[in-house]
Amino acid sequence: MRILAFESSCDETGAAVVEVDPAAPSVAPRLISHTLHSQVALHQPYGGVVPELASRDHVRRITPLAEAVLEQAGIQLASIDAVAYTAGPGLAGALLVGAAMAHGVAFGAGLPVIPVHHLEGHLLSPFIDAPAGEGAFPFVALLVSGGHTQLMSVRGVGDCEGLGESIDDAAGEAFDKTAMLLGLPYPGGAALSRLAEGGRADAFDFPRPLAHDGSLDFSFSGLKTSVWTRVQRLPAPLSEAVRADLAASIEAAIVDVLVLKARAALRRTGHRSLVVAGGVGANRRLRERLGEAATRDGFRLHFPDLRFCMDNAAMIGFAAALRLQAGSAPLRPAGDFAVHPRWPLADAGLGEPRRAVSPNGGRSG
Ligand code: KG4
Ligand code: ZN
Repeated sequence: MRILAFESSCDETGAAVVEVDPAAPSVAPRLISHTLHSQVALHQPYGGVVPELASRDHVRRITPLAEAVLEQAGIQLASIDAVAYTAGPGLAGALLVGAAMAHGVAFGAGLPVIPVHHLEGHLLSPFIDAPAGEGAFPFVALLVSGGHTQLMSVRGVGDCEGLGESIDDAAGEAFDKTAMLLGLPYPGGAALSRLAEGGRADAFDFPRPLAHDGSLDFSFSGLKTSVWTRVQRLPAPLSEAVRADLAASIEAAIVDVLVLKARAALRRTGHRSLVVAGGVGANRRLRERLGEAATRDGFRLHFPDLRFCMDNAAMIGFAAALRLQAGSAPLRPAGDFAVHPRWPLADAGLGEPRRAVSPNGGRSG
């Protein structure tokens, strides 16, 4: 069976085709093709995602992306059996574009739809390129993106429990906001990380909030204040060497806390496997430090391929496919739909929440 999948929850528009045999759970689903358009350049002048611009751009991009992904797969819509899409969480207007597209295509072609939780897509993304058996359940998932920082215990498809999360800024947000203080364009996480390569991680002692509070929660909002205060006390303009030291010290502060809490989550759950997902999963220092911890503590570490760390539709198609194999896919008739801008991942196993935003702007439930 072939699934056409859409992602439009934030500032990336994606489409993908995934093949799966729902009756053979031992045979891994297969990614046939995927396309992606990033809106980073569109939002860059504003220093963050502008929701209305995001929605309008999704509208412009989604149909050509859908056509391209079918062409790449070498198939026609008639060969598709179901349409999956991100139903939440995310920006309401952006989500509505993908949901409307999915339901429109499915309704026209007489196909069922599968609404998918965006974070479930992220945490199952390592399965896209993992050989069968790798990254198997149970595992601890560390989700680190521009919008989310969460630790989850994942026991199976659709069966996860929240262990901790950021009480303020997400890890990616902390990277992006501090990068801006160093004069790097939005989103500056990757650029800050490159700048950090030439700096000393112990040059500045930035705070590691909640590092020893015993919880698995994170707090990153104090970091940008601390960096801003420190920068104010340095002679302007900052030299390249000082900027590199600042970048390396900021990166170390964020990575230290992520590694410390991920290790604590593994100890607490007894799981022997850690899966890292989300854009910050591309960070080299995080990969290195977790790699060292995995060797020391004896856990298995899995990162999705860099292409699938960021938002994409392949992970949405995979989540739908794995759900089908687990017998828990919320296959529904197309037509009547709503999206869920706030949708706790721990509730994803229960199906779509009752409270929702529908296309006519009303809130139901
Ligand atoms: O998963 P993602 O694409 O989701 C969101 O759109 O939220 O993650 C994007 C985030 C941005 O905050 C970006 O700065 C950060 O991931 N990021 C990085 C790196 N590459 C991307 N942060 C640190 N180091 C990187 N190499
Ligand atoms: Zn995401």
